[in-house]
Amino acid sequence: MKTLNEQRKREIISRFHEGKVLVVGDVMIDEFLWGKVSRISREAPIPVVEVVKESFMLGGAANTANNIGTLGGNVLLSGVIGDDLHGRILCKKLKEKGLDTQGLMILDEYSTTTKTRIIAQQQQLARIDKEKKLEITGSVRESISAYCQKHRSDIEVIVIGDHGNGVITPQLFRTIIEMGKRIIVDPGRRDFSLYNGASIITPNRQETEAFVGMKVRERNEVEDAGRQILSEIVEEAVLITLGEDGMCLLEKTGEIVHIPTIAQEVYDVCGAGDTVVATLALALSCGATLQEAASLANLAAGIVVAKFGTATVSREELSK
Ligand SMILES: Nc1ncnc2c1ncn2[C@@H]1O[C@H](COP(=O)(O)OP(=O)(O)OP(=O)(O)O)[C@@H](O)[C@H]1O
Ligand SMILES: [Mg+2]
Repeated sequence: MKTLNEQRKREIISRFHEGKVLVVGDVMIDEFLWGKVSRISREAPIPVVEVVKESFMLGGAANTANNIGTLGGNVLLSGVIGDDLHGRILCKKLKEKGLDTQGLMILDEYSTTTKTRIIAQQQQLARIDKEKKLEITGSVRESISAYCQKHRSDIEVIVIGDHGNGVITPQLFRTIIEMGKRIIVDPGRRDFSLYNGASIITPNRQETEAFVGMKVRERNEVEDAGRQILSEIVEEAVLITLGEDGMCLLEKTGEIVHIPTIAQEVYDVCGAGDTVVATLALALSCGATLQEAASLANLAAGIVVAKFGTATVSREELSK
């Protein structure tokens, strides 16, 4: 593989502030309830958690956008939230990070996707997901399309952060494709046919297995699956993320590279896929080649897995 040399790495990172990425998809908020347990409930054989701290992190497409922003890129975000407390918290968090919230549509009938973790004694006791998987209607789709069109000239690359919660519909996807930009899809459904015509797709191992309908373990199985996705779905490349086995990039040119993880310490892999697609998109929008962008994405993911929750990586950390 033509590895990313230090000089190119520095060049690309120094251009991150010129990168322009639009993220469209399912935004979420991760809620953490930290508590202590000193007794068992009388109602059921379960611990009673006394909450001592509550914190929030951006999730889903909002985490992808946050990752791009933290790397120093220009980012726009579009998605849907409910008219509720968690929607307001999500907006507040985005604003605190200096990210624009104009692209978020507030819907009465929707509830902001919230994933709550209850943690006590350094242990996760439960995760509670609150989500309404609701396909967006015509008028919401038009509002999102209008937002994207309005910013057409401010965008180089578009990330589709699909988590299957209803923002990404076939119609919206077609409208986005017609904008003629480079489209990178972080898939969130078994059926990739909806993403037909995208430039790049970044499935993880499980999503790849669901697409090809068989286990994808060995290198040759990863490559075969990647070739199938390349021929059926995307125009440019497939980047399969493989957790502790790093990633595999397959390009239309026939080139295939396996990139091992650089992670030394693994604490929390949650959101590593968001960091991958964010870094990939930003690097590509700054003129990196696919292999350079994938290497940088792998570096960023290797750093983020050592951090708690849906974390981000800064330009300085990536430069080290
Ligand atoms: N256990 C691990 N050890 C080392 N590196 C890891 C590990 N898990 C993830 N990574 C790094 O993060 C990248 C993305 O991880 P993964 O394939 O788990 O994505 P994902 O399933 O989409 O993640 P998520 O859905 O949590 O965002 C990998 O390509 C690798 O570089
Ligand atoms: Mg993922």
